Amino acid sequence: MNFQEMRDFLTLYKNETNQTEHWLMSRLQQIELQGEYVPTTEEITFGARVAWRNSNKCIGRLFWQSLQVFDERHLLDEQAIFEALLRHIDVATNGGKIKPIITIFAPGRVRIWNHQLIRYAGYETDEGIVGDPESVRFTELCMKLGWQGEGTAFDVLPLVIQVDEQIPNFFEIPKEHVLEVNVTHPDYKAIDELNLKWYAVPIISSMRFSCGGIDFTAAPFNGWYMGTEIGARNFADTKRYNMLPAVADAIGLKRDTNSSLWKDRALVELNIAVLHSFKEAGVSIVDHHTAAQQFKLFEQQEGLAERDITGNWTWLIPPLSPATTHIYHQPIANIIKKPNYFYQKEPF
Ligand code: ARG
Repeated sequence: MNFQEMRDFLTLYKNETNQTEHWLMSRLQQIELQGEYVPTTEEITFGARVAWRNSNKCIGRLFWQSLQVFDERHLLDEQAIFEALLRHIDVATNGGKIKPIITIFAPGRVRIWNHQLIRYAGYETDEGIVGDPESVRFTELCMKLGWQGEGTAFDVLPLVIQVDEQIPNFFEIPKEHVLEVNVTHPDYKAIDELNLKWYAVPIISSMRFSCGGIDFTAAPFNGWYMGTEIGARNFADTKRYNMLPAVADAIGLKRDTNSSLWKDRALVELNIAVLHSFKEAGVSIVDHHTAAQQFKLFEQQEGLAERDITGNWTWLIPPLSPATTHIYHQPIANIIKKPNYFYQKEPF
């Protein structure tokens, strides 16, 4: 634990939640007596929200105050942690009306090995990779632990949970907890026949939540998707599902010359299909134009609160038509404030 960060955090908490100077002094004194800072649920709730506000790569920060926090720091049993993760998935999914949630586990003692709670496996086969190439190493690890997937392009990986120095255990997520959306296009039936689908809720589980000088090594959090994450990256990247050639073929575009912009045309139709499908299925999603407008409101809100707005431009601009958003046209300082969410060393 880092005392300076603890003091900075409690000072921020005091200022933003209208505590008195006297409150701060006695809280600090109490922590000194205890010899350890154990944040209250109110403190980590505030911290988790501010950590979102400080997430420079995130375009969706307008909604930082709506983050709902589950304080599960008392859980040290893998089965109980698994059940808390299922609860997170259920409450966040909310039948499609996705709620931003974070579940916070015991700092330094719990680790979730998955990148996201729900993600698709990837298998190296003689015919090339089946599934998500990004998941190949983690999938191999799951199989070493004894997991067996069906071998489709969309096998949901098990949850891999570690407590202290024990060997991690894997837990299959029962299908009824995983909401998925089949990809269909409003006009091109041939896109439906590519049989693409994606899961509803992106729940990042690999990052460290740094708050008040404490590292919460397991603190999975989610918002809802921006369409381009799926349509312009997960499906489109050559190192992911690499679907642009198949989409171009499906909608009858010749692929013999770059200058026909067949990739760009396929990309737009694929992204239309993703947004259309989520809407049709009643699952929350935001297009990149609306997300940029919401980010503008966030900037204004931060200005009114007299806070400097920070961001990572390379992440904030959407991967589709970036220059159509205001974000593209202005610089933004990538200064890292705490509390925040950080990458941590992969446990495998
Ligand atoms: N880009 C990641 C994915 O496609 C998800 C990252 C978090 N995204 C979000 N909208 N909260 O799976």
